Amino acid sequence: MSNEVRGTYKAQSAAAKHKGAEHVSQRHGNQKPATRMVPVPSQSIVPERDADKDPILECRHLGIDFGGLRAVDDFNLMIGRTEIAGLIGPNGAGKTTVFNLLTKVYQPTRGMIMLDGMDTANMDTAKVSQAGIARTFQNIRLFDSLTVEDNVRIGLHNQVRCGMWSGMLRLPRHWLSEKEFHDKSLELLDVFNMADNANDIAGSLPYGAQRRLEIVRALATNPKLLLLDEPAAGMNPSETAELMDNIVRIRDMFNIAVLLIEHDMDLVMGICEGIAVLNFGRIIAKGTPAQIQNDPQVIEAYLGKQDES
Ligand SMILES: Nc1ncnc2c1ncn2[C@@H]1O[C@H](COP(=O)(O)OP(=O)(O)OP(=O)(O)O)[C@@H](O)[C@H]1O
Ligand SMILES: [Mg+2]
Repeated sequence: MSNEVRGTYKAQSAAAKHKGAEHVSQRHGNQKPATRMVPVPSQSIVPERDADKDPILECRHLGIDFGGLRAVDDFNLMIGRTEIAGLIGPNGAGKTTVFNLLTKVYQPTRGMIMLDGMDTANMDTAKVSQAGIARTFQNIRLFDSLTVEDNVRIGLHNQVRCGMWSGMLRLPRHWLSEKEFHDKSLELLDVFNMADNANDIAGSLPYGAQRRLEIVRALATNPKLLLLDEPAAGMNPSETAELMDNIVRIRDMFNIAVLLIEHDMDLVMGICEGIAVLNFGRIIAKGTPAQIQNDPQVIEAYLGKQDES
């Protein structure tokens, strides 16, 4: 695969402005018609706009055991190229384990993961990252003592362009690349209005800003699929509302797919187009937000329980 940056952020940003009206968040009573989801093979659904293209992700019979525990079993999922998809389920259902499988933190015990038509069976975490999956973590993982910009640069180095020799000898090509990295870091930080924080120490940022920085760092790896593990955890309602808008904006700006794990049902039902519900490691329901909210099995396993608490 080419190490070239896939497209320019500015070009994608301009295209997003044009497309923006198509993907307006559903919250604040500002209801837009729900995405039309269409069935595809593997008993999945994808947004109609993505149906004529290959899915960005397809999991077939994916599973992993930890000793005697079937943490994930027979996990089948297809995600459209520009879909915002949700993975929900009670604590311990196996959601983060799915992310660990997709990013090869764990090798699957069984099943297959296809990323943009490529089987990831022989890939490790670095290869999967280069192939286009980026993630954030349930518990923030930043380089606390480094600057905000350096955290983003670490993501950008995933797609480093200069060769070893030009880097070691610091040839003009390397300098150019350094300047590009600096400019691109600021451009990415600007997505969250964080360019002014570039020289701040990451660990000194408020919690919400650290979460945003983690997303920027993930975006810096130029993903095709962004995995967000409980991005709204610890956020107050107004931060969560802003995050919802930002997730939709990122999807439009970068023209990527997003798979998010979240317990905040307003967020999930507000921006996810397709949702899969996991319980004891198995998918018990897949569908649109409306279908999921009305699924008796889901209500019993998850949503109902949440209402009681
Ligand atoms: N490395 C591991 N070794 C053994 N068991 C594990 C490992 N990782 C996860 N598990 C187990 O797998 C199950 C699923 O855990 P996981 O963290 O994926 O749940 P989750 O759905 O993300 O929950 P939460 O909503 O609390 O984050 C749990 O029973 C957990 O203890
Ligand atoms: Mg988890």
